[in-house]
Amino acid sequence: MVVVGTRPEIIKMAPIVRELRRRSADFFVVHTGQHYDWEMSSVFFEELRLSEPDYYLNVKSGSHGVQTGKILERIEGVIEKESPDLVIVVGDTNSALGAALAAAKMHVCVAHVEAGCRSYDRRMPEEINRELVARVASLNFAPSPRAYINLLMEGIPRYKVFLVGHPIVDLLYEIKDRIKDDVVKEFGLTKYQYVLATFHRAENVDDPKILGEILASLSESPLPVIFPIHPRTRERIKESGLEKYLKEPIISVKPQPYLAFLGLLRNSRLVVTDSGGVQQEAAIIGIRAVTVRENIEWVETVIYGFNELVAPERNAIMEALIRGIGNPGVPKYEEYANKMFGMPGVARRIVNMILNEETLDRIRRLDEKMRKQVIHGYPTPKLSLKKEIREEFSLLYFDKRGECIRPILEEETLEEPEYRIILDFQALSKGD
Ligand code: UD1
Ligand code: UDP
Repeated sequence: MVVVGTRPEIIKMAPIVRELRRRSADFFVVHTGQHYDWEMSSVFFEELRLSEPDYYLNVKSGSHGVQTGKILERIEGVIEKESPDLVIVVGDTNSALGAALAAAKMHVCVAHVEAGCRSYDRRMPEEINRELVARVASLNFAPSPRAYINLLMEGIPRYKVFLVGHPIVDLLYEIKDRIKDDVVKEFGLTKYQYVLATFHRAENVDDPKILGEILASLSESPLPVIFPIHPRTRERIKESGLEKYLKEPIISVKPQPYLAFLGLLRNSRLVVTDSGGVQQEAAIIGIRAVTVRENIEWVETVIYGFNELVAPERNAIMEALIRGIGNPGVPKYEEYANKMFGMPGVARRIVNMILNEETLDRIRRLDEKMRKQVIHGYPTPKLSLKKEIREEFSLLYFDKRGECIRPILEEETLEEPEYRIILDFQALSKGD
């Protein structure tokens, strides 16, 4: 059972759904209905050539409790009816959390795509969602070596963590020839002579002061700023009386279909955003990004020079905008793919693993062993576990008492060479 609910989930899940279809796997798709406007949902099914979801749960908007509660209840109903062997969720939305929790409580195996990204900031609802999904998932598909390590650091056993890369890489390589570059002209823009902006994070747009700072900085851009406005942001701008900023150089437009949005991205000088997906896409396509947030989960994009993180303050954003416009070059994604989100083949790896009964049996077997060996709380691998399970933790650092304290860093040299971690994608990836 494949679950989606929001714009980015439909996009990121598309390569997996298509791979399942290619293999004639027995599966069905559930849409929670968290996003429901045509331009936030149906358009992506059409453009990405996905068939209509088999279940549409019509959850719509609401507080976290109301929305997540409805998702839990309605997903439970579908699981009761269909008895799936496995539920796949992606990312960190309320839809992903609700579906994962409902499944885990009904003892259905959960697979989490894009597992292990962390901002280490629990003020973000998404951070709470991601952490919780990782705890209940049996298969955590990490998109990057960093995400893989985050999961190990949180004590998720290694037998439940698989470094496979990010399915967005598959999608972008596959659709690059269908991207609509003409959209640039349709909006009266000139290639490389405009900035693309997107904002929707609750912590940025729900506070009128922060939203005002962001809009004020965009309004000072020396280049036109095309701004497809997320419905949440559109509402907040209206409520806060900030429409005055939606004039030259800002061109405010509706949320764009995917191929048009990628056209706007691919031909832009710079993208200024708080979107997780857009940061990744910019790096892969080769467009410099400025991310307006206090912290991010796609740390790789900053470390390897694709993205600049800037606080949500007018002057800071303005300066980063000018810097980015003046110096738009970024490294070539392929040179860093191994340390970032991998190369195409991600959906194939994921589907290889979820369709392989041996993988699932092994996880069940090791879970069972773990359960039998734990007497007092969480097991300390070296002290309380038998060899077979201890090996699953071999990339972690143990202190003198044998307690697992953290993963080993790339540059560290330890006396026992088998305890060194290799921060390399191919060395860790599975499922080929
Ligand atoms: C959600 C996710 C966020 C993700 C984003 C992708 C959670 C907690 N948040 O945020 O992680 O990055 O989706 O875009 O799951 N609305 C509409 N039409 C729609 C959808 C939403 O008008 O089709 C409006 C409603 O007023 C709603 C608001 O947008 O209250 C927020 O929607 P919601 O799904 O709760 O959160 P997002 O901000 O979209
Ligand atoms: N996107 C789109 N049209 C838009 C804005 C974004 O198709 O007008 C796509 C974008 O290319 C990316 C995804 O939506 O794949 C990101 O979604 P969003 O920013 O809503 O969520 P996040 O990635 O931050 O969770």
